[in-house]
Amino acid sequence: MNIIMLGPPGAGKGTQAKFISGKFSLPHISTGDMLRDEMERKTDLGKKVEEIINAGKLVKDDLMVAIIKKRLSQPDTKSGFILDGFPRTVSQARSLDEILKSMGKRIEFVLYVEVSEDVIVKRLSSRRICPKCGRVYNIISNPPHDDNLCDVCHASLIIRRDDKPETVRNRYRVYLDLTLPVIEYYRKRNVLFTIDGTLPVEKVKDMVLNILGGAK
Ligand code: AP5
Repeated sequence: MNIIMLGPPGAGKGTQAKFISGKFSLPHISTGDMLRDEMERKTDLGKKVEEIINAGKLVKDDLMVAIIKKRLSQPDTKSGFILDGFPRTVSQARSLDEILKSMGKRIEFVLYVEVSEDVIVKRLSSRRICPKCGRVYNIISNPPHDDNLCDVCHASLIIRRDDKPETVRNRYRVYLDLTLPVIEYYRKRNVLFTIDGTLPVEKVKDMVLNILGGAK
């Protein structure tokens, strides 16, 4: 199964992508996680993208396409993958089509998680991340057992630098300008499935399973 998660920042794409990844044993390819890892390791790429990400802007299309092309050539994507955060522009979507065509593959499901701007700002200001294992929490809807410590590796949880309300609003504007047209791109290709992302996580998972046709 070749799947794309689409939706505004904080819609719950990563949360659902991790669930699908575990359920169907597919690699979860998050371009945001890949870029943050480069930033953490202070690589040339990480240094190049840091300012862009912290300002809530988009990294250049040609750079992102090169990253995804390399990642999709790895053997673990042979029986499918979940793309989370890519494509984010129509140009990236077209490039992805070309890459997949050259591999004899195509996108089968585009899961569009729909949530309003106000919900997003609220959710992202209460998101917390484990800097060690990447697990995502929410101090309102999905808090850790121990105050501010990861349930798995007990590291102190952090707030993502681009989760400040003013940066979230910027990210949302960028999303409206550049990513909404991607939704129309896939709607025309009859592979788009819209999910109400304001529902509780478990209900959203049920909707995802209904669409992908798996049993819970
Ligand atoms: P990226 O990391 O992809 O950020 P994003 O798309 O803005 O999405 P988020 O990770 O913020 O949110 P999410 O939808 O995954 O929500 P989550 O599940 O965590 O990209 C970051 C940056 O990298 C970009 O701004 C850009 O600069 C750059 N970049 C990346 N890809 C690029 C590309 N292709 N081209 C150019 N630049 C690129 O959930 C959010 C919170 O809500 C969590 O706390 C969670 O616990 C909670 N939650 C989840 N679901 C629910 C629910 N149903 N109810 C209540 N709470 C919920």
